[in-house]
Amino acid sequence: MQSQSFRRRARLTFVAFASASLSASTLGLAAAPAASSDVTAPQMIDAFEGTFGAHAGQRRNHIKGTCAAGEFVGTKDAAALSRSVLFSGKAIPVVARFSLGGGSPEVPDAAPAPRGMALEFHLPGGGLQHITMINVPIFGASSPASFRAAIVAAKPDPTTGKPDPKKLMAYAASHPTR
Ligand code: HEM
Repeated sequence: MQSQSFRRRARLTFVAFASASLSASTLGLAAAPAASSDVTAPQMIDAFEGTFGAHAGQRRNHIKGTCAAGEFVGTKDAAALSRSVLFSGKAIPVVARFSLGGGSPEVPDAAPAPRGMALEFHLPGGGLQHITMINVPIFGASSPASFRAAIVAAKPDPTTGKPDPKKLMAYAASHPTR
């Protein structure tokens, strides 16, 4: 079981990701209100674009990244635990994308944003298998609606160009960790 301070640190990393990855330019789109229990895809997209700006043709989140191609060879030991072809011991072609969480294309590489790794395995027979991972121990929001609320809370204040710390604190206080 993780300690409360461990969870708090992981949570702060999550709340900090948006402020660390914001660009000065934002379009200031208004995010539609969401019910506390649910959120629609357009509401989520509006929230990303309202906080980070709209960047046509690019991802709304994990916008900055770089791709690589290689081969994945799963350990045969895992074959005892999984029937997945990934653990056949044979080389599987894979496309990888390494990214930074957040929707700013100008985020510095050293920003304290979660690191993403997305993998696309090209399976024998032509099928594809996708996996996305981040390097933080917990995902800081318990639902799409609370993730959206975090993004909205990180929207830059027009006078400073930075997120309002009071709004970030209010988000953390209204979405406590257990
Ligand atoms: C409410 C939950 C979540 C929402 C709304 C969300 C939203 C998004 C969006 C909009 C994108 C951009 C997709 C695109 O334009 O192709 C994205 C990318 C990504 N997400 Fe999430 N996400 C959520 C949860 C997660 C979780 C739980 C993980 C990992 C454990 C994750 C890891 C990633 C990664 C690694 C990428 C980049 C993928 C790439 O490089 O192509 N996300 N997410």
